[in-house]
Amino acid sequence: MRKVPLMDIRSQYLELKTDIDAAVKDVFERSDFVLGKEVEAFEREFSDYLGIKNTVTVASGTDALILILDALSIGKGDEVITTPFTFFATAESIMRVGAKPVFVDIEPETFNIDPDKIEDAITEKTKAIIPVHIFGHPAEMDRINQIGNEYDLFVIEDACQAAGAEYKGKKAGTLSDAAAFSFFPTKNLGCAGDGGAVTTEVDAIAEKIRLLRVHGSFQKYYHETIGYNSRLDTIQAAVLRIKLKKLDEWNERRRNIARLYNEALSDLPLVLPFEKPESKHIYHLYVIRVEEGLRDKLADYLEKNGVGTGIYYPVPLHLQEACEELGYKEGSLIQAERASKEVLALPMSAHLSEDDVEYVSSKIREFFNN
Ligand SMILES: Cc1ncc(COP(=O)(O)O)c(C=O)c1O
Repeated sequence: MRKVPLMDIRSQYLELKTDIDAAVKDVFERSDFVLGKEVEAFEREFSDYLGIKNTVTVASGTDALILILDALSIGKGDEVITTPFTFFATAESIMRVGAKPVFVDIEPETFNIDPDKIEDAITEKTKAIIPVHIFGHPAEMDRINQIGNEYDLFVIEDACQAAGAEYKGKKAGTLSDAAAFSFFPTKNLGCAGDGGAVTTEVDAIAEKIRLLRVHGSFQKYYHETIGYNSRLDTIQAAVLRIKLKKLDEWNERRRNIARLYNEALSDLPLVLPFEKPESKHIYHLYVIRVEEGLRDKLADYLEKNGVGTGIYYPVPLHLQEACEELGYKEGSLIQAERASKEVLALPMSAHLSEDDVEYVSSKIREFFNN
């Protein structure tokens, strides 16, 4: 039976094997494993790619969020507005610094935070808004920044799923006070383990993150503040420098696969991913919506036919056990709850073939025809 996995990370390595093997060997030859020369080079190249002044790499996307919040002195007694329809790390980072996440429901079309609902959630304690460019589609940043300006709130992008995505011609990660990226291997720009970065136009924020990532110290054994041990390994930076050169090409392939799926599935009783005209979706995930009840049956049917699928996310964050003390109940955020029952991610990667897309689409059609 044909097998089409949900994601295909290994093919990235096979395409770039000669360069990656050589780069990793070089790092071993130099043995500058922590904050070695590749780290600085990648930071410069990623800044150039995005069109932003500063990139500060850290150990993960989660750390990127935590360090941004810490750098902005957000903590105990503060509230941060965000979306319930994201990976746990978005809210976890807020809670980790001692602040309270306040969840605002999502737009059903893009699954991103609904800007029209943000103002109702603002209180005297609100310090920041964290929109997430979920699945690779940018959030409504003009509207969110306008609210941020009006109420004097920081805006922090969670761009962990959106390397290369664009909003009104500008790259995700350049649209707010500071942004968090994840280079987890399954991300569209992924390294060979954990990795992340903060991007910002504001030098003072970048400086603070640089200080925090090395134990609050610029000068060895002299510590200005309590920090973290959160650095991107040199090996990871070396791998990312190679993959960054491929990012636009790979994102275009993802967009092409999305177009092929859209064409093949357009007449079936399901909702296809939505791309706003001012946005460039990079399809970190290709997520369809299927009527509640049918979704799991379709996933089973596809699995039986060798097709991998995923549910991002089965439980919205406001209903997670870890968020119980925040006091949300079923019915609090209807759009996010509905989405969690209907979403299904289909195989997506830059290395998926047209035949694979055709096979997956034909199996979905077969399911609805039976
Ligand atoms: C939206 C979002 N935020 C944050 C993270 C955390 O990133 P990491 O796994 O690199 O800590 C991820 C990815 O896992 C993510 O998808």
